[in-house]
Amino acid sequence: MRQLLPTPATVDPGLAHSALPRKPRPGRPWVMLNVVTSVDGATAVGGVSAPLGSPADREVFSSLRAVADVVMAGAATVRAERYRPPRTSPQVQEARRQRGQRPKPRIAVVTASLDLDPELELFGDPAERPILLTTTDAPPSKAKVFEERAEVIRCGTGRVDLRRTVEILGDFGGVVLCEGGSSLNGQLLVSGLVDEVNLTLSPAVVAGSSPRLARDQTEAHQHLEMSHLWEQDGMLFARYLMAEPASQDEQL
Ligand SMILES: NC(=O)c1ccc[n+]([C@@H]2O[C@H](COP(=O)([O-])OP(=O)(O)OC[C@H]3O[C@@H](n4cnc5c(N)ncnc54)[C@H](OP(=O)(O)O)[C@@H]3O)[C@@H](O)[C@H]2O)c1
Repeated sequence: MRQLLPTPATVDPGLAHSALPRKPRPGRPWVMLNVVTSVDGATAVGGVSAPLGSPADREVFSSLRAVADVVMAGAATVRAERYRPPRTSPQVQEARRQRGQRPKPRIAVVTASLDLDPELELFGDPAERPILLTTTDAPPSKAKVFEERAEVIRCGTGRVDLRRTVEILGDFGGVVLCEGGSSLNGQLLVSGLVDEVNLTLSPAVVAGSSPRLARDQTEAHQHLEMSHLWEQDGMLFARYLMAEPASQDEQL
């Protein structure tokens, strides 16, 4: 893959991502987003993201999963994309062990309704039980269905308290990857819980009404600093870090 910025080079996404520093923040893990969009900002075509992807995109997707301790997603994404347990190559598992990580990341699903298909492949591997992040008032009958199939964590009433949830996910390791969708990304951004944004820009336009990278009723205009920009087959892979807030002197 071609690195365009900060300096032209050839990069291996897996090696490059595993070498990047991602230090936990005070009281919580490092949180990164990963999203693929069209040039006009669509995150889905026909309700799923796959038409926007490519082999290079899947390589970057896997490279980010390879460094994550937890892969978090909103329930709508898990339902639409039919999530499965993580498929982690033996080489990546070994590299993770050497870094002191679990061989595979845990998948964590945020859901108030627990309206998930228990027959989804995601729930089929007892060795890789996902985490369900739900509320204290989630329907008990549905919670019972997932007792054996998942680790159910209740955090918040009515809505999952994402700040507390992210803190709790820190017990599983120092790096959380949020794979969307847009409503979960929006809440994390508005809550100031995002440290890194990975954006794949697919050479396509979609129109339609697909959500964009993040949405929320509240606006949270935050500046980003580009950490790198890679390219393969017309696909752009940008990594951004949240910019430090300007000091009061700079704001004057
Ligand atoms: N292009 C990409 O990279 C990409 C990535 C991800 C997703 N997508 C696409 O985006 C679409 C889904 O995105 P979306 O924004 O509609 O949904 P989403 O963020 O994936 O999921 C929303 C759902 O998550 C649960 N949720 C989120 N925040 C919650 C909270 N604070 N408390 C309790 N539950 C909470 C709720 O689940 P319940 O309804 O179960 O209560 C809610 O309905 C799909 O079409 C998917 O294919 C694209």
